[in-house]
Amino acid sequence: MSFEPTASERAVRKDEHLDLAVRLHGQERPNAFDDVSFMHHALPGTATGLADTGTTVCGVRWEVPFYINAMTGGTQATAQVNAGLARAAAEAGVAIACGSQHIALREPERADGFQVIRREAPDAFVLANVGPTVTGEQALRAVEMLQADALQVHLNVAQELIMPEGDRDFRDWAGRIAAIADAVPVPVVAKEVGFGLSRRTIATLTQAGVDAVDVAGAGGTDFIAIENERRPHRDYSYLTGWGQSAVLCLLESLSGDDPVTLPVLASGGVRTPLDVVRALALGARAVGVSGHFLRTLVADGANTLRRELRSWTEHVRTLMTLLGAASVEQLRHTDVLVTGRTAEQARLLGVD
Ligand code: FNR
Repeated sequence: MSFEPTASERAVRKDEHLDLAVRLHGQERPNAFDDVSFMHHALPGTATGLADTGTTVCGVRWEVPFYINAMTGGTQATAQVNAGLARAAAEAGVAIACGSQHIALREPERADGFQVIRREAPDAFVLANVGPTVTGEQALRAVEMLQADALQVHLNVAQELIMPEGDRDFRDWAGRIAAIADAVPVPVVAKEVGFGLSRRTIATLTQAGVDAVDVAGAGGTDFIAIENERRPHRDYSYLTGWGQSAVLCLLESLSGDDPVTLPVLASGGVRTPLDVVRALALGARAVGVSGHFLRTLVADGANTLRRELRSWTEHVRTLMTLLGAASVEQLRHTDVLVTGRTAEQARLLGVD
């Protein structure tokens, strides 16, 4: 049985998510990105000055191939987080997504906690964020609220099922996504929230008319663990770790003779510039980071986050040079080695 949460319950949940994401995942763990390594070539034949970190997402050139992925907004505490994230993003030239805007669609006085992103980052590429349960008209309002450049639609079935107040019926989600894609004038990016998009799901999303996907895989922020912590008996602890990694999603959807045609973004468990480059080398157009940047902001503030965003950009340039790649496109032609559990999973999926 599910029931519609009240406005204040939604607000409490927002604050709890933020707190739990920092508390539960404070330590960065080994994950599937560790299964990806590169063949080193001692004569790369390029120069750092030639390394172009730019990439094209939703028809727009981004100078930096990673972005701050969806997190939060709508309460006083989360508005402050959005302000800090946006200030750092603006100063470092990084794209930024806001968290789910459902709370502000229901209570318009909460819109400011999202609009702060546009105020702090007037020229940034900003992504609005809704779930598939909103109407086309609400999706349009979410985009207008932020003058967003694109709209993310989050797919969070695993989270909903573990949330006592979550949705239980997902039969019409694909149809609803199609209606949202029809209703908004900006590109639509369908994303998971940390459990991964399979090739089969991406095929359905392609049919629904989205413009890009973000596989948002497992290995970083785990919303089953977060929601389990909010349950009185924490009875779903055995389910943490559910889902597939971004690495496996990229291998499944982009390797082989018949890669998916939609542009694929990757996120979930990204900890370092090397993880960014690993995902780019596996074919991601750009790489999203939530938990890691949130922890930097909460621990050390917006200035430190800005410095980190800048230093990650420089490190990506360094790693591109080490790999002999002058562009993000060329990174896709480096010699990538996939080992361990990820290699075994890929083999079972028939990915070579
Ligand atoms: C999220 N994420 C998320 N995603 C989304 O589409 N809408 C949302 O409202 C939220 N809310 C949210 C809150 C917090 C506190 C975190 C940390 C994350 C999911 C996020 O965009 C991303 O898909 C996952 O967190 C996996 O990436 P990381 O955290 O492992 O880099």
